[in-house]
Amino acid sequence: MAGIDVVADKGKLSKLDEYIDTLKNKDGILINVLHKAQEIFGYLPDEVIDHIADRLNLPPSKIFGVVTFYNFFSRKPKGKYQVKICLGTACYVKGAGKILERFLEELGVQPEEVTQDGLFSVHPVRCLGACSMAPVVLVGERDFYGRLTPNDVPTIIKKYREG
Ligand code: FES
Repeated sequence: MAGIDVVADKGKLSKLDEYIDTLKNKDGILINVLHKAQEIFGYLPDEVIDHIADRLNLPPSKIFGVVTFYNFFSRKPKGKYQVKICLGTACYVKGAGKILERFLEELGVQPEEVTQDGLFSVHPVRCLGACSMAPVVLVGERDFYGRLTPNDVPTIIKKYREG
């Protein structure tokens, strides 16, 4: 997996260090530090985990264990706009597979990959809780799109590209 360039991201590492310093000598800070690191870097690459291991004096294996246990931590970079395509049963029977294919084709990526401009990543997910609107796509945390057809996909992408 490609990591971050730690030298180029020194500013971000300093920000993380400042946060760690505010927590010093408190027990059980690992989860908080990992949350902060993910907020700063967007994900948790090897270099950041090694840095945290050094700073907290913990074995990297322990940190990897925690990161892989909780699914809210990500080991892969994500796009500015995460496009979640529901492949739950209700959406699937209404053609969600074709919606997914169209997003991948339009953006030129594989599932979980980030577009070259860093704007989008596409994530197949389970039921988003909006089955009556199937097939459903969620962009970011709030923008739901329902009853989609593959032809709606370019319009959705354009909306975010144009900001
Ligand atoms: S199955 Fe897609 S929202 Fe429920």
